[in-house]
Amino acid sequence: MCGIIGYTGREQALPLILGGLERLEYRGYDSAGVAILEKDKLIVEKKAGKIRELVKDLWGKPYKGKAGIGHTRWATHGEPSEDNAHPHTDEKGEIAVVHNGIVENFVELKRRLETHGIKFKSDTDTEVIAHLIALNYKGDLLSAVLSAVKELKGAFAFAVISSKEPMRIIGVKLGSPLVVGIGKEENFLASDIPAILPYTRHIITLSDGEIADITPEGVNLYDFNGNPITKEISLVPWDIISAEKAGFKHFMLKEIYEQPKSVGDTIRGLVSSEEILPFHLKDFRRVLIIACGTSYHAGLVGKFWIEKYTSVPTEVIYASEFRYSDIPVGEKDLIIAISQSGETIDTKFAVNFARDKGAKTLAIVNVVGSSIDRESDFTLHTHAGPEIGVAATKTFTAQLAALYFLAIQNTPREDKLLQDLIGTPSLMEKVLEKAEDIENISEKYLKKRNFLYLGRYLSYPIALEGALKLKEISYIHAEGYPAGEMKHGPIALIDEAMPVVIIAPKDRVYEKTLSNLAEVKTRKGKVIGVGFSEDNHLKDLCESYLEIPAVVEDLSPFLTVIPLQLLAYYIASKLGLDVDQPRNLAKTVTVE
Ligand code: F6R
Repeated sequence: MCGIIGYTGREQALPLILGGLERLEYRGYDSAGVAILEKDKLIVEKKAGKIRELVKDLWGKPYKGKAGIGHTRWATHGEPSEDNAHPHTDEKGEIAVVHNGIVENFVELKRRLETHGIKFKSDTDTEVIAHLIALNYKGDLLSAVLSAVKELKGAFAFAVISSKEPMRIIGVKLGSPLVVGIGKEENFLASDIPAILPYTRHIITLSDGEIADITPEGVNLYDFNGNPITKEISLVPWDIISAEKAGFKHFMLKEIYEQPKSVGDTIRGLVSSEEILPFHLKDFRRVLIIACGTSYHAGLVGKFWIEKYTSVPTEVIYASEFRYSDIPVGEKDLIIAISQSGETIDTKFAVNFARDKGAKTLAIVNVVGSSIDRESDFTLHTHAGPEIGVAATKTFTAQLAALYFLAIQNTPREDKLLQDLIGTPSLMEKVLEKAEDIENISEKYLKKRNFLYLGRYLSYPIALEGALKLKEISYIHAEGYPAGEMKHGPIALIDEAMPVVIIAPKDRVYEKTLSNLAEVKTRKGKVIGVGFSEDNHLKDLCESYLEIPAVVEDLSPFLTVIPLQLLAYYIASKLGLDVDQPRNLAKTVTVE
């Protein structure tokens, strides 16, 4: 949450920082701001609302400074307002800070700073950082930052610039992500690689407890004790074109369409020798899958596959619940942490917690070099490419591919099962061919305020995922439920006003799901079915029908989720909502 960027070099900093912030906007978009070094003075401009509000405000202002920092915010401490927008400065306006994460002891620090007569201008935790650095400043920004960092508790990343040492920016990482971009006579800091991809593909990913001191001439790295360190520069394989909309109205729609490719790329990546794991799931007493949101739903699907093919008992737990539970974890357990960003703090803390207890940790992440990637014992990478839409789509199906691949390892039918998996992307293409039908169907439901999503067995997590997609981008209330549980309560909600999405591929629970469908129809519920194209019986029972091609039972989630992503997308898009950046959300959630 929150995106930060810093630039120092030979170009005008402002356009470059604003461009970077637009690419970081998925991390938060409550307010935005910049600090630019203009003739040895720091100019700070900030605005509540999205980056475009800041851009409008800066229109025509002649800032030519060649160093600066920028921020896009997802509010934690202090409402989203101009005063609380970053950068925050010290009292003299000589030091400016942009920050991602939380300073947990800020109340205590604020009280102490106030006893020095310091007056706070905002309600944020960030402002203490600027004042602490100013208080410790004795002519060297790095030394002042090192002293300030010793007093801060929490998980954060921040960048600091000072008018007293023009062209120098210091970046600090502890918990939240921060990368250094290496250019020619210019260098960058950013929360995430896409922010600086148009300018450089040479990246150093900072680890927790590291500091980068950047000027146009070079980059120096230190630990929190001020000892110099060296790190490798890596070349980012992503192409910037893959982060553009390519003619689609929204990134989310583009990413839904990219799924056959991203699942195919993920399977190819996994079968390559580099991804072979030195253990088998059967080596463990138990598998614990930890994740949040959509990644948690992928985990629920994975549980069915793992138990089917390995018989190893598998539990799926929200990372935020796992970390503070008393669940016994030990060396006989395998923890699978699923996270597209690899930065979700709940999941990251859960990994650290499990490792401390002696469990082996395996990450399934999309972002190479992310915290969870680095901090887990092993990683399976999904190869979905950058996902910009806040609602996860292509990373979900790529996670499914990784989980299925993992579950079928060393099973007697591994080759046949792998062939089925390899055939899935072409079936996904066929689902996408029906997008126009789904767009037309969506028109019927634009005014509905509640939806129920039902499914059994492998379709139950897909019901949860379909409901999550709808609520997060359309703000329509939607609930996912195991179809067989409906009669134990939610059935009371059903009347002629309630659209009920029922996912019913022909699998082991097909007949049972149809009985649940009958229960809905008897109470006049309007059924939107998801099922096989040739299943005319099911089609006749539904008010609307979202078709998928016939597929083997195991792999239905790869197909059934796509019509639900599209339904949510078209409803939100036709309601004129900001599909790629829904309110209150952020792509990467780096607060607990
Ligand atoms: C929903 C969504 C979120 C994420 C969740 C976990 O569309 O995107 O629910 O799935 O925040 O994020 P990662 O996978 O990055 O850990």
